[in-house]
Amino acid sequence: MAKKTKDTETFSNFNVVVFGGDGDLAFRKIYPAMFHRMLDGQINDQFNIVGITRKTPEIATLDAKVRQFLLTIDDQPATDEQWNKFHQKITWIQAEKPDVSSYAELTSFLNRFPEFDSIFYFSTPSSAFGPISTTLKTCGLINERSKVVLEKPLGNSLASSNQINIEITQAFAEHQVYRIDHYLGKETVQNLMVLRFANNLFQRTWDSISIDNIQITVSESLGVEQRAVYYDQSGALLDMVQNHLLQLLCLVAMEPPHVLEADEVRNEKLKVLKALRPMTKESALTDTVKGQYTRGNVQGTQVNSYLEDIGAYQSKTETFVALKTYIDNFRWKNVPFYLRTGKRMKKRYSEIVINFKEIAHNIFPAKEKLNNNKLIIRLQPEERIELIQMTKIPGPGGYRYKPIALSLDYMDSFKERLPEAYERLLIDVIRGNQTLFMRQDELQAAWQWIETVTDSWKQSQQTNVLYEAGTWGPGDSILDPGTSWITKSWRD
Ligand code: BG6
Repeated sequence: MAKKTKDTETFSNFNVVVFGGDGDLAFRKIYPAMFHRMLDGQINDQFNIVGITRKTPEIATLDAKVRQFLLTIDDQPATDEQWNKFHQKITWIQAEKPDVSSYAELTSFLNRFPEFDSIFYFSTPSSAFGPISTTLKTCGLINERSKVVLEKPLGNSLASSNQINIEITQAFAEHQVYRIDHYLGKETVQNLMVLRFANNLFQRTWDSISIDNIQITVSESLGVEQRAVYYDQSGALLDMVQNHLLQLLCLVAMEPPHVLEADEVRNEKLKVLKALRPMTKESALTDTVKGQYTRGNVQGTQVNSYLEDIGAYQSKTETFVALKTYIDNFRWKNVPFYLRTGKRMKKRYSEIVINFKEIAHNIFPAKEKLNNNKLIIRLQPEERIELIQMTKIPGPGGYRYKPIALSLDYMDSFKERLPEAYERLLIDVIRGNQTLFMRQDELQAAWQWIETVTDSWKQSQQTNVLYEAGTWGPGDSILDPGTSWITKSWRD
């Protein structure tokens, strides 16, 4: 139920049921997101969070762990008063396996709130999504007021993703399904829509006539942390490119929807995914690189190799991928899109760089090189937009110029805490807005293209290039001129 106050909507009368309630994601992202929305007064008294555990819940330990991750706006631990208010909302329920008797306690809990919406948040391996949905349905817990949130990865191939979808949609209708990609909840990613579609400046320069290439980079300094088993089955391509990087690419490249409505936006994103040029055995050799990190030093700390991190003698899993692709449509004819991501890189940063073409003719007498304009959309660690443009260096003595950034720093400009991606996305689920969630056909199209990459890797027998942790990845060690683009614009 939503109510409008002066500038934000407030929500109440809902239960959020988190399967995988004692998992890492729940502690790090889901509970803190709910906590902050509560502190901001956007969700108030009438709601519950139900953490589902498979083992008998050790309530004091689980509570302590929830509290450990709740930080206030100034990054201070939650006060007793804040914690007590939030704590009242949390209930732990064991459901050992997806069957009616294991779900008895959950069923009786939810039946106490017939007027509440139910949000089922599946933060478990996706192989459990089907059985959980079926059991919820058998227990009579799904109705028109139910929604389901699905965490990635949704399967590990087109076939498995389709299968999961069939199982989910036997219990929920598509309008009740929220496939989450937390990159779409990031503030600067949201701002991409405003930047592109609310500024005339970019309306006629956003195409192959004006743009030379587009680069999307998500560089992480972290390794695989506690997720060795999952990561070793996925690798960077499935963990990051299949979802986050492709979603960013869609927002950069899509046509303007005629209105900002969920299906209109998703239709445009789907067209981009369908127009991606399939990778082939030949193009994989020149246009893709995959790598795996060895021991190294990341920002002053000596770290293990990937193999040591996962405790294995060998693994073919890539922890770095860089690839070049094209969108075969009118707007983007022959504009390369470079996608790169890796773990244990030199530092954490994510950005989208729009590299504009060279100016047609240099009129300045010195004929010094004129740098091309660049629009840099920085997603993290800080959220910022920079437009790099040539500027005259002040003073007499002819025209001298250099590139200077016109810069918008979100924190400086808005002077307020930026909500975490999960906060926005959870509120969108509560309010029933699917714009920032992937539709099944989008997911399918993303898988179809990704499988051209995995197939071409198999056919071309491409292997990992080793790179030292704490560097910008394998680019430096690649001598093939066809792939020298990889290092060209990593930024120190
Ligand atoms: C997750 C991936 O989806 O995104 C992780 O599974 C990755 O491997 C994470 O570390 C990165 O998210 P963020 O928001 O920290 O860039």
